[in-house]
Amino acid sequence: MTKPFSLTAALVLCLTACSHFNFGRAPDDQVDFVSEVKPLLESRCLECHHRRYVCAGLNLETKALAMKGGRSGPVIIPRAPHQSLLYKVLLLGHENPVAMPPSPERVEEEDQRVLHDWILQGADWPADARLVPPQDWVVRRS
Ligand code: HEC
Repeated sequence: MTKPFSLTAALVLCLTACSHFNFGRAPDDQVDFVSEVKPLLESRCLECHHRRYVCAGLNLETKALAMKGGRSGPVIIPRAPHQSLLYKVLLLGHENPVAMPPSPERVEEEDQRVLHDWILQGADWPADARLVPPQDWVVRRS
């Protein structure tokens, strides 16, 4: 009688461990652009990809500009993260000049996963969501 129980327990433990390691979201667990993707792109990428400093022709301020892409063409291919330069540049080693961001500091795996899942889910970007480069952030005084 103990065997079926321990098998169930083992399965539960395994599922718990797997979800802990975040092997991707459940299909209905949508990435939220405004609370997850926007702050990530703003803090890590906008510094060099906005209208006054358009590195590689890529401006990520608005959906239309981001979808247009950079000098290599579109960088976001909805539902295909592994064909999307916006995601692929995060995985490059620093010997590669196009590794992003260019500093040795990498985008953490958890954040890479956010961008991956966002693109996989269709790269939804609400029309009124405009990204602001860190240079333009207003310092709030309390
Ligand atoms: C410090 C400035 C800087 C930051 C921060 C930065 N980039 Fe870049 N980005 C560049 C430069 C410079 C290039 C051109 C690199 C080259 O080809 O030598 C570039 C090129 C790219 C390209 C290639 C575009 C094309 O059409 O060829 C992509 C995609 C890209 N960056 C995405 C990102 C993403 C995503 C982030 C944030 C994780 C980011 N960048 C952060 C400076 C930056």
